[in-house]
Amino acid sequence: MPTPRHYLMCPPRYFAVDYAINPWMDPTQPVDRDLALAQWTRLRDTYRSFGHTVDEIEPQPGLPDMVFAANSGTVVDSQVLGSRFRAPERSAEAEHFRRWFVEHGYRDVIMPSKINEAEGDFAWTGRVLLAGTGFRTDPEAHAEAQEALGVPVVSLRLTDPRYYHLDTALFVLAEATDSAPAQVAYYPEAFSPGSRRVLARLFPDAVRADEADASCLGLNGVSDGHNVVLPGEATALAARLAERGYEPVLVDISELRKAGGGPKCCTLEIRK
Ligand code: ARG
Repeated sequence: MPTPRHYLMCPPRYFAVDYAINPWMDPTQPVDRDLALAQWTRLRDTYRSFGHTVDEIEPQPGLPDMVFAANSGTVVDSQVLGSRFRAPERSAEAEHFRRWFVEHGYRDVIMPSKINEAEGDFAWTGRVLLAGTGFRTDPEAHAEAQEALGVPVVSLRLTDPRYYHLDTALFVLAEATDSAPAQVAYYPEAFSPGSRRVLARLFPDAVRADEADASCLGLNGVSDGHNVVLPGEATALAARLAERGYEPVLVDISELRKAGGGPKCCTLEIRK
């Protein structure tokens, strides 16, 4: 069943690929900012059409990756844990989001002392916080998140540079409830052998995605428990989710993918 969601998004009015901090980014290739904005607007309106609340933060000149709002905060039970970016090119984003939260009534925003790329590397299952490391978020940020949010954290190691954030390799389809465990989809090959075994133990019924699903950033999905927003190319994954009773909704994110992002990267979830 879908549950109402509250998202924070940042329109890509200053979107560009001016630097390369992941293998998807090629500053020599052209980027169509108007098209990126149109694709982003479509994504925002898709969430609104499901009845979800979408707030917008003002984008800032000189911060072309600020559209990827998911990297700027992890919110569980209204407790906000901010971010600390690995790349100097993105570090100023963290303060803009911290200020947004404070101005919107979230008074005790905790800012991390370790590199922490927020929902890029953290996924809430309703019971535990899955936490990625290997490329961006520091493993010590996992322990820091556990203390700040008061939730159990399970560390997972990413090993393929194309899947540099946890949210490029795994997403939560449905949070755990009193009667059902969480459901997730993930691409096992993006993880270390030990982390694959952890995922197999925690989620024996997971949707295991393949290379074709992953290489269009199909694991960068956003689910409300029923509607699952996916990049348009993720048709095979969409079919498998439909078999499980989900409603896949395909959106074109081709311009945003030039920076290494998809639907989830653009979508910071605010959990009450
Ligand atoms: N260019 C951005 C970076 O490399 C993309 C971030 C995508 N966000 C995400 N949640 N995976 O940091």
